[in-house]
Amino acid sequence: MSSESHELLVVKNLSTTFTTMGGPLPAVADVSFTLARNETIGIVGESGSGKTVLSRTIMGLQPRTNVSVTGSVLLNGNEMVGASEAAKRALWGTEVAMVFQDPMTSLNPVMRVGKQIDESLRVRLGMSKNDAKARAIELLELVGIPSPAQRYMAYPGQLSGGMRQRVVIAIALAGSPNLLMADEPTTGLDVTIQAQILNLLDDLKDRMKMSVVLVTHDLGVVATRTSRIVVMYAGRIVETGSTRDVFHRHRMPYTRALLESSPKVSNASHTRLVTIPGRPPNLLKLTDGCSFAPRCSFATDKCHTQRPELEAAGEPGHAFACWNPLPTTTEP
Ligand SMILES: Nc1ncnc2c1ncn2[C@@H]1O[C@H](COP(=O)(O)OP(=O)(O)O)[C@@H](O)[C@H]1O
Ligand code: SF4
Ligand SMILES: [Mg+2]
Repeated sequence: MSSESHELLVVKNLSTTFTTMGGPLPAVADVSFTLARNETIGIVGESGSGKTVLSRTIMGLQPRTNVSVTGSVLLNGNEMVGASEAAKRALWGTEVAMVFQDPMTSLNPVMRVGKQIDESLRVRLGMSKNDAKARAIELLELVGIPSPAQRYMAYPGQLSGGMRQRVVIAIALAGSPNLLMADEPTTGLDVTIQAQILNLLDDLKDRMKMSVVLVTHDLGVVATRTSRIVVMYAGRIVETGSTRDVFHRHRMPYTRALLESSPKVSNASHTRLVTIPGRPPNLLKLTDGCSFAPRCSFATDKCHTQRPELEAAGEPGHAFACWNPLPTTTEP
């Protein structure tokens, strides 16, 4: 057995490049990380940093044309990069499932929610009509929907945003996947509902013995529910480590900027978002330097001409990419 067999997901040197009118667009560049069984990892970064493309590439959901994927994604021993549609289809639902941001786009508005769960069960698991209905009601109950037998008959438009996202989660769980990819699962929901959905995911992770990749632009979302965090900027990992190290011992100025832009717990009720000054780089015009340099107050000449590679920090698993790292602190 390989030394990595306890890892459910092993992503190695993964790059996703789109062919566009403006030239090659490197949306994900040389990303490597692993995820253990029953672990939750957070992937964070501003809008446009490559989180969704990375998630979709891990699932093997990229477009058929105008995209090149290199590197490796081993999901429970199955290589996703270069796998046939049939091979991937066999893994979708049972090995890996995804929950997207907007439940309205993943639900069919003119189909009763129960039927939509039935459909996954019948297509993916070949269940009979009656078994599928019984299991669908169980799943609605599992995701905390009250009066599941009645809600089975509801149309998506008759449910609140939070309830709809619970239905989407129920559909994702229908095939008991080992890995759940949750891409901004609570963006757009109000703070109380957001916390409920995140708690639900946490609870389901343990009950269904899943691993979870929690993707978000908001560090507040991953503060208490992940063991490790990957910070992305312009398609690359710029810092990674235990959640504690990323919050308290980060070395990369972008990580700090992201933390400072996250709504604090104390004022979570207002949604005004502080943003990082400047704009994310145009991925068609990346330089050889650090992609954060134009926005970084610590940038020196070297930053504009040479890209810093990820290098190990003091703590196990902690790494950052920066020529002028922030000083280490003695915070908890
Ligand atoms: N199909 C595509 N073709 C070309 N560029 C794309 C495509 N999908 C995403 N991108 C680009 O890839 C970059 C990363 O996007 P995305 O992963 O959606 O960011 P995030 O989820 O972090 O907000 C963006 O610059 C986006 O415009
Ligand atoms: S390498 Fe330079 S520009 Fe990039 S984050 Fe570090 S100090 Fe800032
Ligand atoms: Mg996204």
